[in-house]
Amino acid sequence: MNNLRQYWHPVLWSKEVADKPVPVKLLDQPLVIWRANGNVSAFYDLCIHRGAALSLGWVNGDQLACGYHGWNYAADGSCTRIPSLPPDREIPAKARAKAYRVQERYGLVWVCLDEPRQDIPEFPTEFGDPSFNWEPYTSEGQWRANAARMIENLADFSHFPWVHAGILGDPDQAEAPAITLTETKGGFQYEIDTPVNKFRPNSAAKQLYTVILPFMVTIQRRQPGSVERHTNIYLCTPVSNHETKFYRLAGRNYRDVKTDDQLNAQHRRIFEQDKRIVESQRPEELPLDLAEELHLRGPDTPAIEYHRRLKQMGIEWL
Ligand code: FES
Ligand SMILES: [Fe+2]
Repeated sequence: MNNLRQYWHPVLWSKEVADKPVPVKLLDQPLVIWRANGNVSAFYDLCIHRGAALSLGWVNGDQLACGYHGWNYAADGSCTRIPSLPPDREIPAKARAKAYRVQERYGLVWVCLDEPRQDIPEFPTEFGDPSFNWEPYTSEGQWRANAARMIENLADFSHFPWVHAGILGDPDQAEAPAITLTETKGGFQYEIDTPVNKFRPNSAAKQLYTVILPFMVTIQRRQPGSVERHTNIYLCTPVSNHETKFYRLAGRNYRDVKTDDQLNAQHRRIFEQDKRIVESQRPEELPLDLAEELHLRGPDTPAIEYHRRLKQMGIEWL
């Protein structure tokens, strides 16, 4: 059996973890994320003493203090102080918080709840490229949908003329472009030509899609004959089977004719259009058996490959 607990998932932006413990949920499990001396820790959000949420406590030097009776826990989870006991009384060995693996990378806090099967996915090199501007375009949000349903949607392009008519697609040109899949590290890739249509008369861009299992998609756009490039990185975190937190990191190496506010508003609008549809899908969990839905050879090639790969990995929903 393969379990989503064995993969790294981003749970917060690094900057969200300052001097206070922060509660999050990952794979239906409550966690508290806290920082001391610059280092981030992730605990099960429960104090062994009386079961209070540790996220209601505070950071005390390099320890996390419980908000109920003030027990202190070190970063490895060991209890170092029980204020109600006289100093000569030993701290019971069972007095521990459950600590999980945690790392900070790409400005995000990543948690793995079990023995990791693979490393944190690699970001494309433009993420560290100083000619790219990322900061104004990053965003995040939460949908009442399954993480794999969101990835399937991000990888799908035959919905553009219908869900994003007038922005990304034209109902009069609904035929999906032909694509070829290639294997890449931990996933697969394909390129589509953004069709020139009446809504996008000057946009003959090429978009390279990369799906990294289980829950990452990057879309790298370039204009043939131009150095202008734009990259979107989407990460979907399974809060539970039916709730997904997404992180979007977007960067471009040019100034668009639209302002940053206009670009962000357009992205939000497109994402709201997708959200309505994806939250309506049933069954909520992406069916891992291809026979459960009707897939079309051609337009559904990325979806078919994504389902196949998830199944091959032996992923099971909670
Ligand atoms: S419940 Fe945490 S110290 Fe008592
Ligand atoms: Fe969409």
